[in-house]
Amino acid sequence: MNDTISVTDWDARDPLAEFRNRFFSESQEVYLDGNSLGKMPLEAQATVQRVLQQQWGQGLIRSWNEQWLDLPPRIAGKYAQLLGTNPANIIIGESTSVRLYQIVHALLNTHKYTRLITDNLNFPTDLYILEGLEKAFELPQTLVVDYGQEFEADIETLKAEIQKQPCIVCLSLVSYKSAYLYPMAELNRWAQAHHSIIVWDLSHAVGVVPIDFQATQTKAAIGCTYKFMNGGPGAPAFMYIGESLQKELANPIQGWFGHAKPFDFSTSYKAAEGIHRFASGTPQILSLAAMEAGVDIALEAGIEAIRKKSVQQTDYLISAFQKELMPYGFELFSPQKSINRGSHISLTHPQAWQICQALQQGMEGYPQVIPDFRPPQIIRLGVAPLYTSFADLMLAVKYLKAIVEHQWHIKYPTDKPQVT
Ligand SMILES: Cc1ncc(COP(=O)(O)O)c(C=O)c1O
Repeated sequence: MNDTISVTDWDARDPLAEFRNRFFSESQEVYLDGNSLGKMPLEAQATVQRVLQQQWGQGLIRSWNEQWLDLPPRIAGKYAQLLGTNPANIIIGESTSVRLYQIVHALLNTHKYTRLITDNLNFPTDLYILEGLEKAFELPQTLVVDYGQEFEADIETLKAEIQKQPCIVCLSLVSYKSAYLYPMAELNRWAQAHHSIIVWDLSHAVGVVPIDFQATQTKAAIGCTYKFMNGGPGAPAFMYIGESLQKELANPIQGWFGHAKPFDFSTSYKAAEGIHRFASGTPQILSLAAMEAGVDIALEAGIEAIRKKSVQQTDYLISAFQKELMPYGFELFSPQKSINRGSHISLTHPQAWQICQALQQGMEGYPQVIPDFRPPQIIRLGVAPLYTSFADLMLAVKYLKAIVEHQWHIKYPTDKPQVT
């Protein structure tokens, strides 16, 4: 069918096509899980090797002054460039969960907010952190706005809740299940007008959706760097706090790296200036070294070009789903309009987990295809424009169709391992 020709054309015309060669790849497998764990940049491998050999192996303690103390602010500067802010507003380190705890704790300590709000589209760790803080601060129960479905937010319902009282709202800019993309600037304006603040979790958005903190009047954000930013498993998170807010906030984990002068070894704590006070312990140097190549590549490719390809590819997936998969019991679980979605496409099917296992297996004529599964019956297909080709997507759709057509998935167990 002439899908093959058009897909080849798309790939031939793709200005980002060359970036695919910058990532480790040993097999023909089609990797569609960059929204969970991004691929390894070859440069990361070389950098870590160099850091191990020269900086840890040979330099040892001298490497702190010579290289390592500069590493977190250098990477923060690169994230600042990507996210439309000043480097002084970004800190790198810890996990997204810890960063969320720190920022919400600090905001609660200002005594300006009386309630925590999130919604049922948010990622579980965010809900758990809020629940813990609500107990610690003896707040009323966190309001988890429930839209009655997990597909998209009802912005009017959300706004109605926000305007009731000054609150801290935590939302994921791109929802992990459906890829629904929130109207960031509109909600920030609404929150501000109602004496509230939104803490954005950008984990599923950073690296595929253009984000400009200044233009959107964002006050606080966090996000992980191991998905579309290709920072490596468990890579350090980033946290953004708008400049005007920084002075008001105190780090609840006031460790020595957040001290104004950590190497004076003073017996009492004095917070560092600005965002630096949000550091706690020693930076994770090997993980930081591994994550830098990912942000370098994203900056080199340009977020606008990445987004353009992401929209073309997710549009392509949706139209291929309509033509090839709809008759086989699959349903689309991502927004139709690109303006409302991030960079993965979710499909549901009653036997989703078994189909995922068949996809991962590979078959004669089909390479292994790696998606992921989210309950209750979602197959997520992550589109990472830096290394996903249109041919990859076509193959995945054909394979999905063949699996269900031939019932190849039926032999796979319905029980699941821990990581799906
Ligand atoms: C939206 C979102 N927030 C947070 C996390 C978890 O972050 P961390 O493990 O760095 O705490 C994830 C992980 O997938 C996520 O999707």
